[in-house]
Amino acid sequence: AQRSSFVVVANRLPVDEVTLPNGERQWRPSPGGLVTALHPVLVEHRGTWIGWAGGDGTAPEPFDLEGIHIHPVPLSADELERYYEGQSNATIWPLYHDAVETPVYKRRWRDSYRAVNHRFAEAAADVAAEGATVWVQDYQLQLVPAMLREMRPDLKIGFFLHIPFPPIELFMQMPFRAEILRGLLGADLVGFQQRLAAQNFVRLARHLLGLRYVGQSIQVDGRQVKAGAFPISIDTKDMERLAADPAVQARAKQIRAELGDPKTVILGVDRLDYTKGIELRLKAFRELLADGKLNVGDAVMVQVATPSRERVEHYQTLRVKVEREVGRINGEFGKVGTPAVHYLHQSVDKQELAAMYAAADVMMVTPLRDGMNLVAKEYIACRGDTGGALILSEFAGAATELRQSFLCNPHDPDGVKEALMRAINAEAHELKRRMRVMQRHLRTHDVARWAHTFLDELGSDDTEN
Ligand code: UDP
Ligand code: G6P
Repeated sequence: AQRSSFVVVANRLPVDEVTLPNGERQWRPSPGGLVTALHPVLVEHRGTWIGWAGGDGTAPEPFDLEGIHIHPVPLSADELERYYEGQSNATIWPLYHDAVETPVYKRRWRDSYRAVNHRFAEAAADVAAEGATVWVQDYQLQLVPAMLREMRPDLKIGFFLHIPFPPIELFMQMPFRAEILRGLLGADLVGFQQRLAAQNFVRLARHLLGLRYVGQSIQVDGRQVKAGAFPISIDTKDMERLAADPAVQARAKQIRAELGDPKTVILGVDRLDYTKGIELRLKAFRELLADGKLNVGDAVMVQVATPSRERVEHYQTLRVKVEREVGRINGEFGKVGTPAVHYLHQSVDKQELAAMYAAADVMMVTPLRDGMNLVAKEYIACRGDTGGALILSEFAGAATELRQSFLCNPHDPDGVKEALMRAINAEAHELKRRMRVMQRHLRTHDVARWAHTFLDELGSDDTEN
């Protein structure tokens, strides 16, 4: 294999190979914040990206894409079910998100998780040059750092968790908890989105393995493992440029016109995931229509709910619930030709998303728990000097930074309704002032800074030399 001095290991590659109904194979951009954030980082570092190419069976041969060397790892149908849908997305995902849905524990999922983590570690060991930096990503690959250290002690190993890291009492539910923790401790630096998550981690190391720590530095087998908070971000400049594109601006106008030029366009953009609070957002909107505080025609909601993890049961139930609520709202309050909610169960490309952000007066980001939430940051970057209001859940990592948004507690329906009405009724100059503060923040705190800060702390940032 081609050897590389900078290697990223993530479950997802930036592109997915999908099979169309007619049997034809096609590459498509992958969903989610991890890919959004890492793609510009890999382009800058010209490194290798190891990941799953989607689908099951054999993996395509390594290839180059926009200066990134892509190294696909295969998953079998059985691993897709046990490692990806099972252990990663029915056990760890809900547990790490405050168990907002009940985590499911199965022994055979765990075995598969181990086997697949081992395959990713082997791929990294093959591809990494002597002394290379390997940066392992996210909850699907928590055993990789320790496995890789065992195979290649010469490497610098970083790990970043894109989702929350739970408090000790929740983490302790996990049947193979000590193995996961030891897996993570194989890294030299373990990064989290939030300070609190890093604290959970060091305290867990003491609680579960009796390890000593000083500050954020844990002593393991005579090594130091550092933990820290590195809030992830977007390629702000790129997003601003995209939104300022005349074609995108024209499309934004067209979207408003197609919606009937209402006073208020309210937007939601999420993977269809139960952590995102899509239902409670719809319910708040319905109640405001029922209370007569909002009128159909004046206010319209657009909800993009991108298909995600569709074979996992919790996701199937959620889809039914969300679609029932959309139907209920349109049934009760819609008029012929003027629905109250426009619902898209589709993946939307960045250009169209930028136009939607530019067209929306109010953006609703209401997760029950979210590591960061890049959609909130993208909305701000797309507003130029036009104002616009962001409703943001206190339980999104982004709430730590975006203090000028309209913050709300998603568990409190009246609070959500109140935040929405305050946003709708706010003065234009007030909205612009809030936006400007957040835009300035995102211009300096972009994804390149995130990567440099992490790699600097790991002791391997050579991009500025
Ligand atoms: N996204 C997209 N098309 C869609 C829906 C989402 O490109 O139809 C992108 C969105 O622009 C953002 C990412 O997916 O960059 C979602 O990241 P976020 O951190 O908000 O949530 P995640 O999906 O990672 O939980
Ligand atoms: C979140 C996770 C990522 C994941 C993405 C999309 O952003 O942190 O690791 O790639 O969701 O989910 P999927 O299961 O489709 O990869």
